[in-house]
Amino acid sequence: MLSRRETILTALKAAAGFGLASASPLGTLLAGTAAADEASPLAGLRYGAAVRDVPLAVEPEFRAAIARHCRQIVGEGGLKWFDIRPTREQFVYDSPDKQMAFATANGMTLRGHTLVWYGAMPDWTKTIASASDAERLLVGHIEAVMGRYRGRIKSWDVINEAIPDDPASRSDIRPSIWQQRLGEAHLALALRTAARVDPDAQLVINEYDVEFVGDRYRRRREAFLRLIRDLKLRNVPLHAVGLQGHLRGDLAIDREGVAAFTAECRAMGLAVLVTELDVIDDKLPGPPDVRDILVAAKAYEFLDAVRAGSPIDSILTWGITDRHTWVPTYFRRTDGLPNRPLPLDAGYRVKPLARVIAHFLRDRR
Ligand code: G3I
Repeated sequence: MLSRRETILTALKAAAGFGLASASPLGTLLAGTAAADEASPLAGLRYGAAVRDVPLAVEPEFRAAIARHCRQIVGEGGLKWFDIRPTREQFVYDSPDKQMAFATANGMTLRGHTLVWYGAMPDWTKTIASASDAERLLVGHIEAVMGRYRGRIKSWDVINEAIPDDPASRSDIRPSIWQQRLGEAHLALALRTAARVDPDAQLVINEYDVEFVGDRYRRRREAFLRLIRDLKLRNVPLHAVGLQGHLRGDLAIDREGVAAFTAECRAMGLAVLVTELDVIDDKLPGPPDVRDILVAAKAYEFLDAVRAGSPIDSILTWGITDRHTWVPTYFRRTDGLPNRPLPLDAGYRVKPLARVIAHFLRDRR
């Protein structure tokens, strides 16, 4: 069994192999060994996590971990069209109402995810046949859903993943029923409607895969920035940019690209949130101790690049424990070992990733 020191050194040595330019600051960060019953390094900080309804309902450990470490939650599901609108006529709020009740009972806030997304759309929306029908439905949905949680959900991912997976040009917008029926104007329509329904809510545009070195990721950053600049130039209400942060453990972070991106967001008066952080570890070495440090080092590199351009408003992880995560759905490990992408392991023990997140939030109480 490697000693803790040997584990850290092994991991830091391996780090270079995974595009981790400078993991040394991590060494110091991890010097202190995490005792299982150690006080939460995240408590009181602007940290939150995505929750799932089943563990929130039936797993006391899950509820306890969320209550212990988080100041905010977001539904991994619950506020998506697929969840809320089983039919054109119906609005079903069971899931977000339960999430809101849990948040309120634990002195936390609930983030809203999401009002306009190509994904998780119920089949009946394929029957939306005209621009007027699309506008009526989109505006009506935002009025109803934001209206229900006005003043209680203080930050909304109004727009999610509007940039195509691999944009051919800076002006590309992801295909969706809204894009098809209303064109790019649907984005401004949604944001203006959101601002009218809840003038105090933080309106966020959320995106993924803008962090890494490589042509596709550079083109995604450029297309995302083009859209944000255009919305700001036309005085469309927009308060923040959400970087999902589903980090690939084996891909290098484009430090200059990310820092320049967040600096431009800041220059436009936009806050920067990390909204869905986790580290996809399917290509990282097997031994959990070593892998946990590489996961933490990747997050360190990303958050350091984000902060180089703008303060980080808050950090949410897409889940809190390795026991409940979407990662194996698409990134199962070939060695059969469980993925370890989140701040707590499957036994709810604090991992190095939690300390890294705390490190970047400490100066943002
Ligand atoms: O609730 C139903 C259940 O009743 C049914 O038996 C089961 C089988 O089909 O499906 C369950 O719904 C699943 C839902 O998660 C709740 O677990 C959907 O099929 C499944 O597609 C859905 O996946 C979610 C996905 O978004 C699509 O909404 C993932 O959990 C969630 O992690 C993922 O989150 C996205 C963010 O919203 C946006 N950014 C990327 C991120 C990861 O893909």
